[in-house]
Amino acid sequence: MKAIGIDLGTTNSVVAHYDPERAGATVLTNSDGENLTPSVVGLRTRDGQESILVGRTAVNFGVRQPKDTIVSVKRLMGRDFADPVVARSRGQLNYEITPGPDDDPRAHVVMGEQAYAPAHVSSLILEKLRRDASRALGGEVTHAVITVPAYFDNAQRAATREAGEKANLVVKKIIDEPTAAAIAFGLQAGQEGRHRVLVYDMGGGTFDISILHTARDQQGHGQFQVLSFLGDSWLGGDDFDRIIVEEIIRWVTERSGTDPSTDARFLLEAKRYAEQAKKQLSQDREADITIPAAFRAEGGPLVDVEMTITREWFEEQIEPLVARTMSLVQQALTKQDLTPEHISAGPGVPVVPRDQRRVGDPVPGLRAQPGRRSGGRGEQALRADR
Ligand SMILES: Nc1ncnc2c1ncn2[C@@H]1O[C@H](COP(=O)(O)OP(=O)(O)OP(=O)(O)O)[C@@H](O)[C@H]1O
Ligand SMILES: [Mg+2]
Repeated sequence: MKAIGIDLGTTNSVVAHYDPERAGATVLTNSDGENLTPSVVGLRTRDGQESILVGRTAVNFGVRQPKDTIVSVKRLMGRDFADPVVARSRGQLNYEITPGPDDDPRAHVVMGEQAYAPAHVSSLILEKLRRDASRALGGEVTHAVITVPAYFDNAQRAATREAGEKANLVVKKIIDEPTAAAIAFGLQAGQEGRHRVLVYDMGGGTFDISILHTARDQQGHGQFQVLSFLGDSWLGGDDFDRIIVEEIIRWVTERSGTDPSTDARFLLEAKRYAEQAKKQLSQDREADITIPAAFRAEGGPLVDVEMTITREWFEEQIEPLVARTMSLVQQALTKQDLTPEHISAGPGVPVVPRDQRRVGDPVPGLRAQPGRRSGGRGEQALRADR
């Protein structure tokens, strides 16, 4: 029996394995040689043959067949077609969402004319994660723990479990993402005293804050429990990328005289480069964006993008987004009768340096530690001692 832990994200998923000899978890590399597997499934039709693509290949192929490329399926898990979140997703996604067949009220996604339950699509992602993990570990993976957002209700948790089982996994446990993050950051629930942990999780498309506390279970073991959560399901790293994409659009429009923003292929390409530049700005003060043959207006010349953005500019642009996350942090603390002064220490992962400083602002001596990446990404855990 081999078991893995799966962070099944809206945008990306990660698999880790606990190694008892090292007494630590290691993030596994997938068959593309990457730690992150995009949570994307696509259908490719070639010479009349259909095949299912998962992960990076689905993302790359998505440029060709966007309406058969399912992204962010996690948003739809266990939700009815009539759910407002589904309605909003329908306006934003490039594929079709329908009610299920035979009066099934749950939202389904359409790939190649056929409707699939989100749990089915999710199981295709999990199946790839399982296969890649089996390869990395040199033996069949049979069991898994899967994380879900703290706000997932029973239907959403059940759909996640169903997806795992469909992927031939025995789902040992469904655990909350902030709990997994707290454990991954080495915070121990068994410690004496009352501790509360605030987890700041900036994902690709969603932003979640949770406050956990340590409690003892019936056997007297220390455990994390989620006390409260809030966030914004429509705020995430994608919005940060979008700011850079807008800048690329302006650059191209100025040079070609044509607005490229209706060209789906250009937009996908611009987004890819924008995300890369954003990540670079977490380390460097400047990032070059070079996109050869990015766009051609009808009858016009081929435009290569060659521009440079600075961290200073970017920080100014993202200010409203960061301010929004900070006001939610304030709300979360207030809800628990906490103030920033209660925060005593915390390891953290930078989303962008600006975020880091803000979370750390009211906390003398707090420094976010870059580079610790396990469990969920983009998470900062701050501990309140009181
Ligand atoms: N070094 C970095 N600097 C800045 N942003 C980064 C860095 N590394 C990752 N990101 C951004 O963080 C976000 C990562 O999201 P992540 O993969 O954690 O999402 P997810 O867990 O799939 O989404 P969700 O939490 O919405 O389910 C992306 O927008 C990505 O571009
Ligand atoms: Mg996540």
